[in-house]
Amino acid sequence: MTVLAVETSCDETSAAVVRDGRVLSNVVSSQIKLHAEYGGVVPELATREHLRNWMPVTQTALLEANVTPAQLDAVAATRGPGLPNALMVGFKAAQSFAFALRKPFLGIHHHEAHLYSPWVSGEPLVADFAAFRPNVSLIVSGGHTMLVHVRAELDHVVLGSTLDDAAGECFDKVAKLIGLPYPGGPEMDRLAADGNPAAYDFPRPLMREPNDDFSFAGLKTSVRYFLQKNPVLLDDAGRLRDLCASVQAAIVETLVTKTLRAARRVGVKCVTASGGVTCNRALRRELAAGCAREGFSLRLAGNALCTDNAAMVGILAERKLLKSTAAPFLDAEIDPSWALGASLPV
Ligand code: KG4
Ligand code: ZN
Repeated sequence: MTVLAVETSCDETSAAVVRDGRVLSNVVSSQIKLHAEYGGVVPELATREHLRNWMPVTQTALLEANVTPAQLDAVAATRGPGLPNALMVGFKAAQSFAFALRKPFLGIHHHEAHLYSPWVSGEPLVADFAAFRPNVSLIVSGGHTMLVHVRAELDHVVLGSTLDDAAGECFDKVAKLIGLPYPGGPEMDRLAADGNPAAYDFPRPLMREPNDDFSFAGLKTSVRYFLQKNPVLLDDAGRLRDLCASVQAAIVETLVTKTLRAARRVGVKCVTASGGVTCNRALRRELAAGCAREGFSLRLAGNALCTDNAAMVGILAERKLLKSTAAPFLDAEIDPSWALGASLPV
């Protein structure tokens, strides 16, 4: 089966072609430079950029895959959650394409697509569903932070999510406070590498609470107060690196502790992680160390599939069509606040 997928839920315009679990192409046009000037994603600018980009990005994806529109078996696009107008561009463009080609069309949940990206690896990228194990999956990015129990393929239940800021948002907001360019996560990661993570003690929000929820807004606020009391710290490169390492340690320890505890409690033997913050080297290292200690196997999405991309949308769409767990529906509408699933009591 050959599927064309489109993803425009936030600030990446992406199109991919997937065939039989193989990623034939995965074109991502990032808008990071455009939004950097404003210190965050400006929804209206993102929408206009998607309008400009979706056609050349889709054409390039088909060309790189060496696939003609007539050879497609289905078209898929992210239906939600995400920025309403941004979603609308990619979703309606893909839907119109499917209509014109008389092909089935499937709307995909963005977070559900993240859940399966850790199972796609190699060069070229191939999905290995034969290796699939029930797992607890951490989805952690600028817009979302959640723990999901993936009980079986295409069967999941949300365990918890952030009550306020996402972990990536916390990285970005703290970076802004200390004058680093947007998005601050990668820059914090770089500076933290040479800093002392034990230099300053920042809160680990909800880390010991008996639930699977997160809260990162207070951590950002405590960094703000800390900087108000210690303004000269910003002029000292060494102490700035210590600050980045200490904030990163607070975020990473919270994410890892809660992920491992959830995995222990629900009784899975496998942990997975995806989303932009999964690029963070300390998070990858600590998840690996924690999983080794507890005897869990760990699957981390590769860097190309951590940040938003259409390949994960195509992989999931093909799987759903093959397993007939979703019916193609040409008249579907976007759902900007589509929930992944109901939370379970812990
Ligand atoms: O998945 P993504 O591209 O977009 C969504 O938010 O959906 O994730 C982007 C987020 C940003 O907050 C960015 O700062 C963060 O991921 N990020 C990182 C790193 N690379 C990206 N955060 C910490 N360390 C990194 N190396
Ligand atoms: Zn995402």
